[in-house]
Amino acid sequence: MPREIVSEREKRLPKLTIGKLLKIAKEDKNIISLGPGEPDFVAPEHIREAAKQALDKGCTHYSPVSGRADLKEKITEKLEKENGISVEPEQVVVTAGSTEAIMLALMCVTDPGDGVIIPDPGFLAYRPCVEILNGMPLILDLKEEEGFQIAKEDLERTILPEKTKAIIINTPGNPTGVVFSRKTLEEIADFAVEYDLLIISDEAYEKFVYDEAKHISIGSLNGMGSRVLTLQSFSKSYAMPGFRLGYAAGPKEVINGMKKLHIFSSVCAPTISQIAGLHALSGNQKCVEEMRKEYDRRRKMIVKRVNEIDGFSCVKPEGAFYVFPNIKDFGLSSYEFAEKLLKEAKVAVVPGTEFGRNGEGFVRLSYATAYEKIEEAADRIERWVKGFNI
Ligand SMILES: Cc1ncc(COP(=O)(O)O)c(C=O)c1O
Repeated sequence: MPREIVSEREKRLPKLTIGKLLKIAKEDKNIISLGPGEPDFVAPEHIREAAKQALDKGCTHYSPVSGRADLKEKITEKLEKENGISVEPEQVVVTAGSTEAIMLALMCVTDPGDGVIIPDPGFLAYRPCVEILNGMPLILDLKEEEGFQIAKEDLERTILPEKTKAIIINTPGNPTGVVFSRKTLEEIADFAVEYDLLIISDEAYEKFVYDEAKHISIGSLNGMGSRVLTLQSFSKSYAMPGFRLGYAAGPKEVINGMKKLHIFSSVCAPTISQIAGLHALSGNQKCVEEMRKEYDRRRKMIVKRVNEIDGFSCVKPEGAFYVFPNIKDFGLSSYEFAEKLLKEAKVAVVPGTEFGRNGEGFVRLSYATAYEKIEEAADRIERWVKGFNI
């Protein structure tokens, strides 16, 4: 190449270590991976069947930019019934996974230099998405001692009032498994009203909550419809990550902006996936409950096992499919710990720092893996820790 062709923006993007570790985990058949951020289940049969039939019928064309009318209609019904959110179909845009919805939403609201509050630890796409747009990520520290809930004082400490446009929240949360309480959501709502912010509410794991926890959409709180953009995904709820299907619903001006940008990013979400998604929402929801129950069974076991191991302690997660134990007693960085565990115990986990600076001293373990494998991984970790001088 005669000259430096790659942009500064690209060069500044963080290099994720998750890929390196998961690659080793994939290549070595003896390794048990607790790394995956996707369901181990395949999409239910009726959903796959709908996709096959759509293909056979020749549904290989573009859809309308904001999504098929039948799917958007069904989405509005679902939002009303399950989330308590009232929107018209024109307030919905269907996207290639909710990752695309995050990017479109940020493109729509941030000018260079604008602040966006993001949770830390938090889903690893938030910060790069803000930075790609030359926005300013404002890091909201989630603390273990507060159960990783968002605290009002921390919001006040984080915001730059004149510069901040939006806040991203994620409940149930990746990587912590935290589910925000109504009180937390009400505080966030009050804060957003006070500082005139858009709330981007990432609810990709809404279906996976356990014990007494309840998923509450912040967009359903009194008067919040005009400032909440709700993001949902089919990837986790229906085990459809490869279909690349998600959506955003919210204020018309934001959705209209996102639709405009959609034309220049992907035109529309894959048509076959949209038809499969329509069947997912219209069909029997038993499959979702079955997956939730199995995750719950694994969660109870992994939390118990992890807390019994010397040097590990974890806040009991109430949602998603992750546990996020504290491993500070080992005196290693999260990355060193994950690397050592991989090489010596043959168990892959994700260093907490992949999810931001507050992830230092933690690792993420996914229980989107077969029960027996998780048990075997816990045995291996236990044996490994016994040989480790804490
Ligand atoms: C919190 C969170 N939001 C969004 C996504 C993106 O999901 P998708 O783009 O598959 O809908 C993920 C994926 O892991 C996630 O963990």
